[in-house]
Amino acid sequence: MAIKKILITGASGYLAQFIIDRLHSAYQLTLTDIVEGNREFANTRFIKADITKASEIEAACAGQDAVVHLVALVRERHGKPAPLFADIMVKGTWNVAEACVQQGVQKLVNISSISACHPAPGVKLPYQVGDAFAFGTGDLYYALAKHLGEQIGLAYHQAHGLNVIHVRPGVIAGDGHNPGPKPPDVVTEPWFVYVDARDVAQCVARAIQTDTVKYGAYNAVAGRADSRFAWKQAEEELGYSPEHNWPEIPGGDA
Ligand SMILES: NC(=O)c1ccc[n+]([C@@H]2O[C@H](COP(=O)([O-])OP(=O)(O)OC[C@H]3O[C@@H](n4cnc5c(N)ncnc54)[C@H](O)[C@@H]3O)[C@@H](O)[C@H]2O)c1
Repeated sequence: MAIKKILITGASGYLAQFIIDRLHSAYQLTLTDIVEGNREFANTRFIKADITKASEIEAACAGQDAVVHLVALVRERHGKPAPLFADIMVKGTWNVAEACVQQGVQKLVNISSISACHPAPGVKLPYQVGDAFAFGTGDLYYALAKHLGEQIGLAYHQAHGLNVIHVRPGVIAGDGHNPGPKPPDVVTEPWFVYVDARDVAQCVARAIQTDTVKYGAYNAVAGRADSRFAWKQAEEELGYSPEHNWPEIPGGDA
């Protein structure tokens, strides 16, 4: 069935604004977040809900064809305790997947991260989805929560046939938190980990549109030859075509 109605979680956050801009003329959007955003979008409605409360998320999912799930502990997460990541990111994603099944939602587009699978030492770069990965101490709670979020999506796809696509953005340049791209002094391996928020939004739109991919995980990074995470799988399977690739920084030509 064609997707017409989409619920966006984390809709008041930074990345969501670009996704709403990209989707709102083609779909009926319902926006949800624990806080109301500053921007108003025509033809959208807002539902205030806490992702950790199953009943609130299930109510927001009623009548939706797809959910784009963005809620995570992102800004100022460093120093926060593990249970908070478990609550907001793991329980939150589980609540969303369960709500999708309970409410007959067809598709879940889960905004994950390249952090969900950190390339294992010695693995060939660029890192392809499915290559060996290893957790490290840096940002472990966030990385583990993203990884577990993807496992929840896989379980609900396998058990209930929910269509699930994990979009793994690189570092989103210009989010007010991350500095922009700057090459290392000596380049020894693919180093570019950034993506423009408009390209993440494009990848989400492709994930909504596809009829052929029922489950998958895709890196959404800049379309550069020196990208540390491979983006060609998203190009081949979803039609992702990144347009904002920092041509002024050498090394990006394919
Ligand atoms: N910013 C990046 O560089 C980056 C990179 C890769 C992936 N991502 C992912 O993209 C998504 C969006 O990131 P962002 O940069 O827009 O972050 P953000 O902090 O701007 O947005 C997160 C939103 O989640 C909401 N939220 C937090 N707790 C909630 C709760 N309990 N219930 C309901 N809503 C709640 C917040 O109010 C906020 O609006 C996240 O999943 C993040 O992990 C971001």
